[in-house]
Amino acid sequence: MKILLIGGTGLVGSYLLPMLIEKNHTVFAITRSDDKIKRIQNLGAFGIKGDIRNPQTFLEELPDRPDVIVLLAMPDVKLGHRITRKRKAELRKETNDFFGNSMDLAVHFNIPVILPGGTSYRTAEGEVADENWSNFRIGLTEMGIDTDGMVNHAIESGKPQVIQLNYGKIYGNGGIFRYMYEMMERGRSRIIGKGDNYIPNIHAGDAASAIIKAIEKMPVGEKFIIADDVPVTQKDFTLYMASLMNKKPPGHLPGFVVKFILGRDFYEIIRMNCKVTNAKAKKILDWQPAYPSYKEGLEAVIKEIREEKN
Ligand SMILES: NC(=O)c1ccc[n+]([C@@H]2O[C@H](COP(=O)([O-])OP(=O)(O)OC[C@H]3O[C@@H](n4cnc5c(N)ncnc54)[C@H](OP(=O)(O)O)[C@@H]3O)[C@@H](O)[C@H]2O)c1
Repeated sequence: MKILLIGGTGLVGSYLLPMLIEKNHTVFAITRSDDKIKRIQNLGAFGIKGDIRNPQTFLEELPDRPDVIVLLAMPDVKLGHRITRKRKAELRKETNDFFGNSMDLAVHFNIPVILPGGTSYRTAEGEVADENWSNFRIGLTEMGIDTDGMVNHAIESGKPQVIQLNYGKIYGNGGIFRYMYEMMERGRSRIIGKGDNYIPNIHAGDAASAIIKAIEKMPVGEKFIIADDVPVTQKDFTLYMASLMNKKPPGHLPGFVVKFILGRDFYEIIRMNCKVTNAKAKKILDWQPAYPSYKEGLEAVIKEIREEKN
């Protein structure tokens, strides 16, 4: 198939692109950076300079009409920095443009689009969220408020045909997790509050393999939760990561300090409590995580980062 990939140079994209090439797909990967075009081409894809906020920048450069669009672009969030109200509004606008323009392109070509999402559900003790739950948008996740409506509208109208993959916290060699790794390496990692809240996780390679399955099965009009099998608290995830990296167990940082330094937007996403089921993805996409729990997943990723560093 011919795949238009937007965000193929990020964390998930770096695992997805080689998988797509391996499966003999023709990939047109959009990047804003000249440097990354060569890297994309070395992997066997067409690297095209462009910005999804302005699709005219690349539309005429596409060598052919794609069969499906995969959106993986994410606005640039500076981790460890307080987000101002102005920046939050910009992030929301940017996210809306990413979704709106990708969906417009899908209508333009009359092809389906695979969209990303998060597991922004709030579950109480004993509850497990599935795809029928509505998102609970708080803190930084509020930047997806409008896109929830856009996706739901597309599912109802069938225009364009969409599939949404709602990922847990994605860890792998890159992106946000690489920042967490460096913080742990420097002894600056902290458990926020008591750390007893559950956060769903998914290895970036498993996030990518779900996209491969979605392309193969193409169940349009459906949303899928893409998270691993084993729920884990923020605290246990952090402690396990520290033990794998031979670091002292990180201490706790009281919530009010995080709110004061980084603001409520970051605090709310780190303190969310959410357990999910991936049963629908396993059943309909025939997807299985290669790393069913954070334990083997973290082990593999930390090994990968260390090998790259050496
Ligand atoms: N990471 C998580 O924990 C998580 C959790 C739930 C959902 N998600 C969603 O999953 C998707 C993949 O996440 P990720 O962690 O792989 O993202 P990432 O590593 O931050 O990658 C961001 C990607 O977005 C591209 N991009 C940013 N602005 C762009 C623009 N204006 N035009 C074109 N491309 C643009 C970047 O490409 P260039 O810099 O090369 O232009 C890069 O490839 C995102 O949509 C994210 O919202 C992520």
